[in-house]
Amino acid sequence: MVAQGKITWISGPAVRADGMSEAKMYETVSVGKDKLIGEVIRLTGDEAFIQVYESTSGLKPGEPVIGTGNPLSVLLGPGIIGQIYDGIQRPLKELSKKSGSFIGRGITTSPVDMIKKYHFIPTVKVGDEIHHGDVIGTVKESELIDHSIMVPPDHKGGKITNIVSEGEYNLETEIATVEKDGSSSTLKMYHRWPVRKPRPYQKRHDPTIPLLTGQRILDTFFPLAKGGTGSIPGAFGTGKTVTLHQIAKWADSQVVVYIGCGERGNEMTEVLVEFPKLKDPRTGKPLMERTVLVANTSNMPVAAREASIYTGVTIAEYYRDMGKDVVLVADSTSRWAEALREMSGRLEEMPAEEGYPSYLASRLAEFYERAGRVLALGSPERDGSVTLIGAVSPSGGDFTEPVTTHTMRFIKTFWALDAKLAYSRHYPSINWMNSYSGYLSDVAKWWTENISKDWLNIRSQAYAILQREDTLKEIVRLLGPEALPDEEKLILEVARMIKIGILQQNSFDEVDTYCSPKKQFKLMKLLVDFYNTGQQALKDGASLVDIRAMSVISTLLKAKMEIKDDEIEKLDQISNTMANQFKSIAGIKVTT
Ligand SMILES: Nc1ncnc2c1ncn2[C@@H]1O[C@H](COP(=O)(O)OP(=O)(O)OP(=O)(O)O)[C@@H](O)[C@H]1O
Ligand SMILES: [Mg+2]
Repeated sequence: MVAQGKITWISGPAVRADGMSEAKMYETVSVGKDKLIGEVIRLTGDEAFIQVYESTSGLKPGEPVIGTGNPLSVLLGPGIIGQIYDGIQRPLKELSKKSGSFIGRGITTSPVDMIKKYHFIPTVKVGDEIHHGDVIGTVKESELIDHSIMVPPDHKGGKITNIVSEGEYNLETEIATVEKDGSSSTLKMYHRWPVRKPRPYQKRHDPTIPLLTGQRILDTFFPLAKGGTGSIPGAFGTGKTVTLHQIAKWADSQVVVYIGCGERGNEMTEVLVEFPKLKDPRTGKPLMERTVLVANTSNMPVAAREASIYTGVTIAEYYRDMGKDVVLVADSTSRWAEALREMSGRLEEMPAEEGYPSYLASRLAEFYERAGRVLALGSPERDGSVTLIGAVSPSGGDFTEPVTTHTMRFIKTFWALDAKLAYSRHYPSINWMNSYSGYLSDVAKWWTENISKDWLNIRSQAYAILQREDTLKEIVRLLGPEALPDEEKLILEVARMIKIGILQQNSFDEVDTYCSPKKQFKLMKLLVDFYNTGQQALKDGASLVDIRAMSVISTLLKAKMEIKDDEIEKLDQISNTMANQFKSIAGIKVTT
């Protein structure tokens, strides 16, 4: 029996209906004469509270509400890549074509082109026994994505009694027939999955592989692991979007899911206009060839914004299940939390801190828990990952507000943007004293095995210099730099060099925009060597004035821009120059 109720009350995107005893929690319903899409978010007796994903203007009490029997779900199959969706997977282009305006109401569109043919190559044959999660064939979805067609996770499996041969088929083609216990079922190239239910996997791996982004402060100082969680909070204009774009472009992942929750006009432009123009730097092809965009703009109903992160993460898990590394970035989760707050207010729920509902924390937890590097279900064996990164926009940069504080409980890497740094044009404006990474020791093994056995040691020395500078700054502020002994003045000097030569990185410079792991390590080692040799030189009687006058300093500071990734042996030459210059000022033996 499907629920068939009547609207009793309407407040913006929130609707109450009675006669809904047959409805289930999170069931999607058709609301009113215009058949708007809604979702049951609370049930009390036969009354349902429904959030409506479309504008409810004109809707009246007494109009019908009809259950669909299904939870809110997404369609998963070839054709998702390159799309721009709203929060419930409706393609924005199709919607605007059909309705003429930006977004029409009660319009049903398919999330992907069901008629488009793909070249399917089967990987199983008649007689094979298949199980849920198994790959039964592949199609080329875009220039950059090979798409595995998988047995849906909730399918009971069985014996293949029929499978199409290699050729061109569309999504509605029945490509395989499976028999189990005397009953048969057919498989198509797509299936549906409820967005609020994490997709199952076999086993979760430890997050030991770094997600390399080519951004020095991220990879070297506050690394994120594949399958990990990170957050980048920052006040207005401090660099959230630029950093997330850099990650989308450069991270060593195959698929990007970009959720844009904008409010102001320019944020909308960033998502809808600028993002599709980005190029995949490694292939020169449009980044959209391996990206799915979920866009929420201020003229879309808040409920769709609430759903968007679940839609996004479900799509990310689907590509993870194919054995791909997926990065999902949400810009910004504060706008998502505001949607939650608005819905909760409409439902007259008891507000907690700053008007957010008491379940804000559990919703954030549910989202971030869906990150992970896993062994997927089925055969062949494949490991995939979903890495989740959320921007947070606390007003005035106040990190004690609820969205930031609750997010901090569930993420392991925290990149704290700092308005003061942004103001002084230190980019990325990530404060190295307030940021942290819980993956440092997890990913150290990778760096040790692939880059240098000294990685953790050199990284700790570099960070210690920054920490000491931070404590010395206070003395300098009170007494001036002259109050410090030369040994400590050298700390200030090298900290300055680390800030300019390593931490600052210009996203818009052709060379500096990406820094390979090897180059990151060599640059850092050069500066740590400079520090250690400098301290030794001071002990051996060299003067700080001579050290500061060394011409190698400007070479070191420019190396990030002037030495390309394919010529990093030039960094070894700088090392020699540095050693010789130290020799000439102190006459000491240098060990670098
Ligand atoms: N790594 C970087 N390299 C060069 N410029 C940068 C970098 N990061 C930020 N910027 C500069 O800072 C500006 C603001 O950055 P961005 O738009 O990412 O901020 P935001 O935190 O997303 O702001 P909003 O709160 O408005 O969304 C950019 O337009 C750019 O000029
Ligand atoms: Mg932004």
